[in-house]
Parts: sequence; C-alpha cells; structure tokens
Amino acid sequence: MQNFIQYSPTEIVFGKDTQHQVGAQVKKWGGSKTLIVYGQGSVVRSGLLDQVKASLEKEGVSYCEWSGVQPNPRLAHAQVGCELAVREGVDFILGVGGGSVIDTAKAIAHGVANPQNPIWDIWTGKVKLTKTTPVGVVLTISAAGSETSDSAVLTNEEVGKKAGINTDLNRPVFAIMNPELTYTLPKFQIACGVVDIMMHTLERYFIPNSRNRMTDEIAQGLLRTVIDSGRVAMKNPSDYDAMSEIMWCGSLSHNNLTGLGRAKDFSVHKMGHALGARFDKAHGATLSAIWEAWALYGYQNDLERFKHYGKTVWGIETEEPEAAAREAIACTVEYFRELNMPTCLSELGVGIQEEKVLRELAMDATMKDTVVLSHLRKLRAEDVYQIYVKANH
Ligand code: NZQ
Ligand code: ZN
Repeated sequence: MQNFIQYSPTEIVFGKDTQHQVGAQVKKWGGSKTLIVYGQGSVVRSGLLDQVKASLEKEGVSYCEWSGVQPNPRLAHAQVGCELAVREGVDFILGVGGGSVIDTAKAIAHGVANPQNPIWDIWTGKVKLTKTTPVGVVLTISAAGSETSDSAVLTNEEVGKKAGINTDLNRPVFAIMNPELTYTLPKFQIACGVVDIMMHTLERYFIPNSRNRMTDEIAQGLLRTVIDSGRVAMKNPSDYDAMSEIMWCGSLSHNNLTGLGRAKDFSVHKMGHALGARFDKAHGATLSAIWEAWALYGYQNDLERFKHYGKTVWGIETEEPEAAAREAIACTVEYFRELNMPTCLSELGVGIQEEKVLRELAMDATMKDTVVLSHLRKLRAEDVYQIYVKANH
C-alpha cells in the first residue's frame, strides 16, 4: 500500500426531505448572502428552486440567482456569473443541480475570491489558487461526483478545450443529497450517471501493481452495487432504494476512497473530454463510447487484473487469463448496451470520423503529445489516435 492522505471534508446530509435544511446549512457555514446557481430549468419545473428559496428565507439568508448552466458548462457563462456575484457582494455559492452546475459554482467561487483574475487564468495554472469562497450543493443527479470531489471541469469555447482543475479548494462544504430529487431524471441521464460512476472507479482500478486489498474491495463492492441498482433504476426511476444506492456510489466513487494508496489514471476521461469539447455530447456517453477501445488496446499488459475484475464484479469463473479478461471487457460493454449507452463513435451520434479529426482529438487528449496517459499501457498521442480508430465505427 502506498502512502496516502484521505481528505473528504464535505458534510453529507442524505435522505428524504433534506433539501429543506439548505438554509440552515448555508448559515452554519457562514453564508449571509448566497448566489444560487442552477441549470436550464429542471429545478424550476420540479419546484425544488422554490423550496430552496423558502428555506433560505426562513433562515434569513438573502440570495440572488444565476441560471442557464448547460451540460459541458462554459467558461464564459461562469465568468459572467462571477461578475454578478462580485457586484452583489455574495459570500456563499450554492449549486442546485448536477456536475455542470456544481462545477460552475466552484468556478464562480474561485473567481469571487480572486476578482482581479480571469477564471481561465486560474484554470490554466497561470494564477495559483490559494483561496476560494465556500460552496454548498443540493444534488439533483447522481453522476459526476462533484459534490465531494476535488475537481471542476469547464469548456472554454474560444479555444475549443474542456479541462479540469484539481484542488482541495474545490471541495464543497456541504452536500444535500435527497434521492427523491433524482426521480425526474430522463433515463438517458440515469444511464450516463451510472457509466460515469463506474468510470470514476475503474479509472482508479486498472493500475498495475496496486496491492491494496481494502481499496479493491471497496471499488468492487461499489461497482456491483451501482451495476445492480442501475438495472433497477432504468426500469423504475422512482425506486428509492436504487436511487439512494446510485447517489451514494456517485459520491464515494469520486472522493478518492476507491483509489487510496495507488496512482490514478483518468485516460478514458481525457479522451472523453476531447470528444465532449468537440461534439458537445453528454459526459457519460463519451466515456462508454471509448472504454472498450481503451480496454482492448491495453488489457494484455495486465491480464490478471482484468481477470480479477471479471471474477469479483461480473462473477466470471474462467481460469485462462486471456479468455477471462476478454469476457470481463465483453460483460462491461454488454452492460453499457443494456443501459442504451453508446459503445462506439457512431452510437455516440457523431458519425464515423476521418483520420484528420481523430488525430486532432488525440492531440487534444494528450495536450499536443506533451502528456503520457494511462498506467496500464503508456499512451502517447499516436496510441490515443489508435484507440479512437478502434472506436470509429
Ligand atoms: O439544466 P437542467 O434543466 O437542470 O437539466 C439537467 C441537464 O440537462 C438535467 N438534470 C439534472 N438533474 C435533473 C435533471 N433533469 C431532470 N431531473 C433532475 N433531477 O440533466 C442534464 C445533465 O446535467 P449535468 O449537470 O450536466 O450532469 P452531470 O452531473 O453528469 O455533470 C456532467 C458534467 O460534470 C463534469 C462532466 O465533464 C460534465 O461537464 N464532471 C465533473 C467532475 C467533477 N467536478 O468532479 C468529474 C466528472 O468526471 C466529470 O468530468
Ligand atoms: Zn466523469
């Protein structure tokens, strides 16, 4: 087991009716005036926004609003929200929604604490981030894990790039998680969420020589739970138990618990972000579209690991490592199909791409071939290109 630090300070308030505690939570964490950040209307239609406002008013917390966050959230939208927050003198940012809303809230929080700096300078590391504004969350979709994660992802349309920053200053101070708030999700979004949660776990799992049984057991248990619950949720999105399990898996999959004591990979995410920036497709769908190609490109470098994954997560008893590993990959892909998720570029809805585009995607994913991806098999831009070629059907 490698040395590690586990830091997951977010206060989780989980369960039915918990959204009514949001006012008390903001107050507890020092907020007297908050910016409510939300998306394109689901929280208005569900009545959640009114409940949030009522709870804030009850606690004497004043607020203003910044709406219109879109999936694959845009830098420019966050920047304008930040200017509004500075003008209004808010001291707390409240995200009511999913990963896109929460990441926008995080970006605004950093911008408010550093008003002299454009958000993108913080994103690119030109400005070192040393302080932020507290962020709280009312979660409405189980997927990105942003409610506990140290990361935030934005798309800069001007440069055509989707990129994240990782810092403990990205950790929200509280997350209100009521699974009932996810009942209104379209099935496609439930499926995207299940895939994303699996990926956050798998990207920490296929790390050669990671001898940490406890971390493995957590990861495998989480994967079995989210896979089973995903099946139930796709049939009945109002199944409280299934939606609860998925919601909790979402947070645990990305607060680093599933990767303690080992390196992490996130190469599939980097390839997915390149697709997301170029084609504006849902994050989870970009991951399922590329995973099989990634796995087939590298699995022979660690057959035993794939065999172990197949045995513990999918119940595969095949002894011969190569056959067992291939079965494990096939089971994963079959499950994505069961969820109606894409497993190649044409199913992602972007069509078959020409070589030039695939090469550009590979350059985007590897920051112009300056970053080597993956621990399973080192991936330079040429390797990433080959993976896109494999998925290009
Ligand atoms: O905008 P509204 O109207 O709210 O609709 C949203 C949006 O269209 C809808 N939705 C959310 N909750 C709903 C609902 N519709 C009905 N009922 C509800 N209860 O769902 C759509 C997708 O929302 P979004 O926030 O984009 O989904 P998700 O949570 O999957 O977030 C995806 C974003 O997070 C990033 C992704 O790259 C992507 O940009 N990620 C963030 C991470 C992090 N900060 O740690 C890690 C992830 O790997 C990921 O990269
Ligand atoms: Zn993700």
